[in-house]
Amino acid sequence: MTVTTAPILVTGGTGTLGRHVVPLLREAGRTVRVLSRHGRESGDGIAYVTADLFRDEGIEAAVDGVEIVLHLAGGPKGDDVATENLVRAASAAGVKHLVYVSVIGSDTLPLAWLRSKLNAERAIAGSGIPWTTLRAAQFHDLALTVVEKTAKLPVIPVPGGLRLQPVDAREVAARLVHLTLGEPAGLVPDLAGPKVYGIAELSRGYLKARGKQRLMMPVRMPGKAGRAYRAGENLSLDGADVGRRTWEDFLTERVGRPACTGEGNPAAHTETRSNP
Ligand SMILES: NC(=O)c1ccc[n+]([C@@H]2O[C@H](COP(=O)([O-])OP(=O)(O)OC[C@H]3O[C@@H](n4cnc5c(N)ncnc54)[C@H](OP(=O)(O)O)[C@@H]3O)[C@@H](O)[C@H]2O)c1
Repeated sequence: MTVTTAPILVTGGTGTLGRHVVPLLREAGRTVRVLSRHGRESGDGIAYVTADLFRDEGIEAAVDGVEIVLHLAGGPKGDDVATENLVRAASAAGVKHLVYVSVIGSDTLPLAWLRSKLNAERAIAGSGIPWTTLRAAQFHDLALTVVEKTAKLPVIPVPGGLRLQPVDAREVAARLVHLTLGEPAGLVPDLAGPKVYGIAELSRGYLKARGKQRLMMPVRMPGKAGRAYRAGENLSLDGADVGRRTWEDFLTERVGRPACTGEGNPAAHTETRSNP
């Protein structure tokens, strides 16, 4: 790729993933333009531009003079519309490489927000702009949000058969930066975490790290989505790259105490009661 001094536009540069990506791009010597809905003070090689991808406001100015776009902005819905708006502006601005982060299972799990991720992938692949898309597993941060919320309940519901392969957001950030600074590569191998966990295991690790005790109750996930999750369609067991940092590593760092998630571990301070 031609060496350029043009800034790299990072959408979602203020989010969980983006906050790891932006400093890595700076370390690589690149100036960064961060697209955000909220104004912020620029400095130290990072310029913030205010735009809303979903509402299609301010995008032309954000992509002006940019050759590479790393598109991380996302939300619970509307990622397809937001991406189509970005693609249109990026195409008109002559962007040479559009990098996107999607979610493992976007092409297999029958859920509306994943369909919107898949449609976003398709908008990019059909844009005529050279592109790279990485599908990642759920970040440890998201798993933590879920187990923190459910640990507030007197009994933790455990969807039977639901497994996650959480990955460290910093490792996803590093992979994306590598891809962003490389040649457009199309759909690259998925990036998932090093271990697969049931929801009970994830919760046990968290409870142990917090020194808490909770009952757990199996629940059944209904419908097509339940079947797809039980079949492991959200996992990437073959052909994926795997990160190194485990859920236990993440908890030790974030919560501050060593966490063990092993099934049947007596130190886990939990018991499972059967579904009535
Ligand atoms: N979280 C996961 O487990 C996970 C797993 C795999 C893939 N991903 C994908 O990775 C990406 C980043 O996820 P994350 O967890 O870092 O997200 P996050 O922490 O929720 O941050 C969302 C980001 O999107 C931006 N954004 C949202 N709506 C926007 C809009 N209408 N216009 C412009 N910017 C908008 C926000 O910017 P402002 O608030 O500053 O406007 C924020 O920077 C998403 O595409 C997500 O689908 C996430």
